[in-house]
Amino acid sequence: MTHLNLSTKFNERLFDMDFMNFGHSISLIHHHLEEVEDELTGWLKQPLNITAEEVDEIHNLSDEIKENADVLLVIGIGGSYLGAKAVQEALAPNFTKKENGIEVLFVGHNLSGSYMKRLVESLHNRDFYVNVISKSGTTLETSIAFRVLRHYSIERYGQNAKNRIIVTTDSEKGLLKEIALAQGYRMLDIPSNIGGRYSLLTPVGLLPISVAGINITEILRGACQAVIDLNEEDLEKNEAYRYAVLRYELYSRGYQVELLASFEPCLSYIHEWWKQLFGESEGKEKKGLFPASVNYSTDLHSLGQYVQEGNPLLFETFLSFKHLSEDCHLPFNELDDDQLNYLSHRSFNDINHISEQGTVLAHFEGGVPIIQIELERLDAFHIGYLLYFFMKACAISAYLQDVNPFDQPGVEAYKTKIRDLLNEKTIVS
Ligand code: PA5
Repeated sequence: MTHLNLSTKFNERLFDMDFMNFGHSISLIHHHLEEVEDELTGWLKQPLNITAEEVDEIHNLSDEIKENADVLLVIGIGGSYLGAKAVQEALAPNFTKKENGIEVLFVGHNLSGSYMKRLVESLHNRDFYVNVISKSGTTLETSIAFRVLRHYSIERYGQNAKNRIIVTTDSEKGLLKEIALAQGYRMLDIPSNIGGRYSLLTPVGLLPISVAGINITEILRGACQAVIDLNEEDLEKNEAYRYAVLRYELYSRGYQVELLASFEPCLSYIHEWWKQLFGESEGKEKKGLFPASVNYSTDLHSLGQYVQEGNPLLFETFLSFKHLSEDCHLPFNELDDDQLNYLSHRSFNDINHISEQGTVLAHFEGGVPIIQIELERLDAFHIGYLLYFFMKACAISAYLQDVNPFDQPGVEAYKTKIRDLLNEKTIVS
C-alpha cells in the first residue's frame, strides 16, 4: 500500500528528464546518510529509536498539564516551535473547543512587546504550564520570553511555579540545562545528534502536540512507516529521493522558486515548517531554491495572477489529501436566485478538489512545471509520514547541491550584529 503519491506535469522541455542519471549520486548520498556519525543525523531513525518509556513520559506529562492547566505556553522559535504549531493547525479542529486537549499558545517566536504584553494579560484568569524549548539554550527570543514568563509564574504560583515549568533542551549541555538543574525544573531531552528543524519527532514536538489532544502514537507510527518506505536505495522506488531529484533538476534548469501550494487552510503552518526546513538547510553558498508558499483558493485571488503570467522563475508543488474527514454540503434552493443550484449536488470538498484540478491545468498551460504530492487521508498517521518524507527529501536535496543540510552558518551574521547593537550603551535610532 502506498501512503504518498508523487506525480508531475511537465511540458516538453522537461520531458527528457532521466531519473537514472541520478542513480549513482543518490546511491552515494543514501550510504553517506546511513554511515555518517559525526553529523546531525539522529532524526533519521528517531521514530524507530524513541522508546516506549519516553513516549509514556510524554503522555504522563501531557495528562498532568491537561488536568491542571487551561493553557500550555510553548516558548521557542524556528525548529523549536514550527513543527508543533504545524501539526496542531493541521489536525486540531478549527473553531471548536478541543476535545482531548487544551489550548497551546506559542510565544518567544518574535520580539514584539505588544504580543508579549497581551499574552500575559490573557493569562490572568487562566491556569497555565510553561514548556520552554531550545536546543542551544541561548536563543535571544526564547530566553527573554522565558525570563518574563518565569517571573510571571512565580507571581502566580509562588513556590509551586517550578512544578509548572518543563524544559526541553539538549540532552548533554547548554545554559538552559544548567538553569533547569539549578532550579529543579523537569527536563525533556533533545538528542544531541538532532538539529532544530529536524527535531519535530522528539519531545520538542511531541509534548505540545499531545497536549493539543493529538494522538502522538499515530504520528510516530506514520513516521516509522516512512522510515521504512523511504530507506529504499533505488531512486525509482523512493518517493523522497524522486522529489529531491525533481526539484534539483528544475533548479539546475533555471527555476529559482519552489511554491508549495495547498487548498486546505489548515495546512498553512505545514508550509511554514517546510519553508524553514528547506530554506535553512539548502540556502547557503549562494545556492538553493527559494521556498515560498500559497494557500489556495485564497491566494488565487492575489498571487495566482503572478503564478499564471508573471516572471517564469517558479515551479509549483501541490500538497493534497484524498480523504478529508469533514465536509459541508450546498443546500438546494427552490428560488435559485443566486443561480447556484447547478452545484447543489456537490459539497465544498468536491468544489475545492475541482478547483485544484482546474488550477493545476491552468498553471501547467501557463508554463509552470507542477509536482503533486498526494496522501491518502488528513490524519495523524499521514501527517507523521509526510513530515518525515519532507525531512528525508530535504537532506537529500541539500546533498545533491553539495551543501550541508544540518548547519546554518548564515544566521550567525545577524545574531552578531544584534548582539553588538544590544551591548552598545547608546540607543540606536
Ligand atoms: O533549525 C534550526 O537549528 C534553527 O531554526 C533553530 O531551531 C532555531 O534557531 C532555534 O534554536 P534553539 O532551539 O537553539 O533555540
